[in-house]
Amino acid sequence: MRESWVSEIWVLVGILAAFFTLGLIAGHPMAAVLLGLGAYLALTLRHLFLLHRWLQSRRRNDIPEASGLWGDIFDSIRALMKETERREDQLTQTLTRFQSTSAATPDAMVVLTLNDAIEWANPAAERLLGVAFSRDYGLRVTNLLRDPDFTNYLKKGDFTDAITVPSPERPEKTLSLQIIPFGSSQKLLIGRDITRLERLEAMRRDFVANISHELRTPLTVISGFLETLQDMDTPRIDEIRRHLVTMHEQAVRMQRLVNDLLTLSRLETEPPLLHQSIVDVPVMLSGLKEMAEMLSGQHGHQITLEADPDLRLLGNEDELRSAFSNLINNAVRYTPEGRSIRMTWAGTPEGARFSVSDTGDGIAPQHLSHLTERFYRVDSARSRATGGTGLGLSIVKHVLLRHDAKLLIESTLGRGSTFTCQFPQSRLQRIARTDTV
Ligand SMILES: Nc1ncnc2c1ncn2[C@@H]1O[C@H](COP(=O)(O)OP(=O)(O)OP(=O)(O)O)[C@@H](O)[C@H]1O
Ligand SMILES: [Mg+2]
Repeated sequence: MRESWVSEIWVLVGILAAFFTLGLIAGHPMAAVLLGLGAYLALTLRHLFLLHRWLQSRRRNDIPEASGLWGDIFDSIRALMKETERREDQLTQTLTRFQSTSAATPDAMVVLTLNDAIEWANPAAERLLGVAFSRDYGLRVTNLLRDPDFTNYLKKGDFTDAITVPSPERPEKTLSLQIIPFGSSQKLLIGRDITRLERLEAMRRDFVANISHELRTPLTVISGFLETLQDMDTPRIDEIRRHLVTMHEQAVRMQRLVNDLLTLSRLETEPPLLHQSIVDVPVMLSGLKEMAEMLSGQHGHQITLEADPDLRLLGNEDELRSAFSNLINNAVRYTPEGRSIRMTWAGTPEGARFSVSDTGDGIAPQHLSHLTERFYRVDSARSRATGGTGLGLSIVKHVLLRHDAKLLIESTLGRGSTFTCQFPQSRLQRIARTDTV
């Protein structure tokens, strides 16, 4: 640029010198110099005119051509425009990327001004917070999110932690709201659906509380008896034996609890397709029927089994045995003596089903949806008295889930209950019989 200024000055000096010389010859040197200045001015005005016309035309690519200083100026403008175009492209790309990312993000994002007015919001904000950018632009966010905790949070201005509020759109959902200040005075409000997390946290708390409660009773009994034994001055063997029997019962109870918990955790973590085979369900059920009769003992339940002998199941034999025996054990334990228990294994249009129907006291409707929750017992005292841990039906549910099957529970108070495992067609194997029995 410096060089073109120097050469431009030389051009001016050259023009003036040429006109001065011509003026000298013609006898009017000063008039000739003025004429030379006028010529230079005309040239400059022409370039200014070209620049002005081009600026007015807004046609980016038609920058006028020139040499010398004006050529340099036009080249610089051209380079500046190229740079601006490149930045514009970059900005557009960044903006497009930002828009598609913010549209895809499951979290609500709302940009607020200094006065907490809505400046921008992504699509998730409408779903979670009820804030629609096109409709609510410029509105104060507190007019839409009316939760008092959120209003206080905004007012206090301490945004170190997030707050938890119910979703204004779907109150059954829990949201975590956090404000992140940015720029000179703007704020970004992030809303995250934490319903699942909250539920898991509640489950974890319940689980720890339940397990502690389950272990406390047998441990109290065992340590109580140990203290009694320690304090005995003249231990009597029959008394010691009685205490040992009770302590053993409690130890067995704890062992069952731990075993059931281990089974559940294995069912939850192990991949479902391990150790699958064609399971001969009718044979398994006749074995389980004998076990049920032994369990029933002098209670004299009338236990019947009707099983389609040709119907087999693709699955894990141990898991299926555990699920079926849980249902059968429940039927025996929760059915008063002498009454009947009916087991069936048969094909259905959708697949096949194993059902255990008892004629016990039945279960009230409000309990039915909770029965497969861990540690859930309709009558805790009765269940505990029969040695139940409240984990049986959770195990059944998990086993069935791993076999693409469903547990259906029907019950009428005072008449009995039917627990059905419904298996899909894809799990069935029907064997072709060559002989008749
Ligand atoms: N056939 C049934 N008739 C009546 N109530 C039942 C029957 N089966 C289950 N229940 C109720 O459902 C509750 C949960 O059953 P679940 O099998 O999960 O636990 P449990 O039998 O108490 O203990 P566990 O099976 O771990 O030994 C039982 O406590 C009982 O109240
Ligand atoms: Mg049970």
